[in-house]
Amino acid sequence: MTESTNQLPGTFVTFEGVDGSGKSTQTEALAGALTSRGYSILTSREPGGTPVAERIRDILLDPGVKSMAWSTEVLLYLASRAEHVASVLRPALERGEIVICDRFLDSTLAYQAFGRDGGNGDTASALRSIRKANELSTGGLGPELTFLLDLDPGEGLARTRDAGRVPDRLEGEGLAFLERVRAGFLQLAEEEPGRIVVVDGSRPPSDIAAEVLNLTLTHLRRK
Ligand SMILES: Nc1ncnc2c1ncn2[C@@H]1O[C@H](COP(=O)(O)OP(=O)(O)OP(=O)(O)O)[C@@H](O)[C@H]1O
Ligand SMILES: [Mg+2]
Repeated sequence: MTESTNQLPGTFVTFEGVDGSGKSTQTEALAGALTSRGYSILTSREPGGTPVAERIRDILLDPGVKSMAWSTEVLLYLASRAEHVASVLRPALERGEIVICDRFLDSTLAYQAFGRDGGNGDTASALRSIRKANELSTGGLGPELTFLLDLDPGEGLARTRDAGRVPDRLEGEGLAFLERVRAGFLQLAEEEPGRIVVVDGSRPPSDIAAEVLNLTLTHLRRK
């Protein structure tokens, strides 16, 4: 599938998972471990990663934004991604760097297609339309290796609460929504086992980091 094919000299790795599953923690850990082994790393996150994309992020995650059409939400995520790919990710991959991104297309599919039931109950059609529109944002650029940090969403929310963070607009959707998101991520992983590695996100961060680093080094050696 085009989203997982990257013809550029760099390596594109993503972390996915529900809120609080440890994506930011593991992005930093992997970047640190690879940097100390001499690799050139670029880390980023979605939505966001550029000044324009961060402004779109502010709209998307603002708990004060009470309602938004399903297609508006999808297109804002994809607009943010278009900017991010064009001005940050593609240039880094052209320079041959390892790009580690906290969320990408799989999150759009898991939250907007599975979590929101496609906006009108037709998840299959939503998956198709998001993938098609995503091509416009990315020109087919996508990760070759994805770590899905699988975690009970209740545990994820408890972690972010413990860290003192105020829930953003999507976190405020509640547990049933996040359960659909989690199941969606797992279905995506089943469909693309060659790209998406499911990692048990409930283990200690250092255990997860060791597994992720091993798998990434193996992937880099095979390239
Ligand atoms: N494996 C782990 N076990 C226990 N706590 C963890 C683990 N990984 C991360 N945490 C803690 O849980 C909280 C959420 O982690 P982190 O911010 O990395 O998650 P995230 O997936 O990036 O969340 P978000 O989607 O909200 O950005 C942080 O306080 C972090 O220190
Ligand atoms: Mg994070």
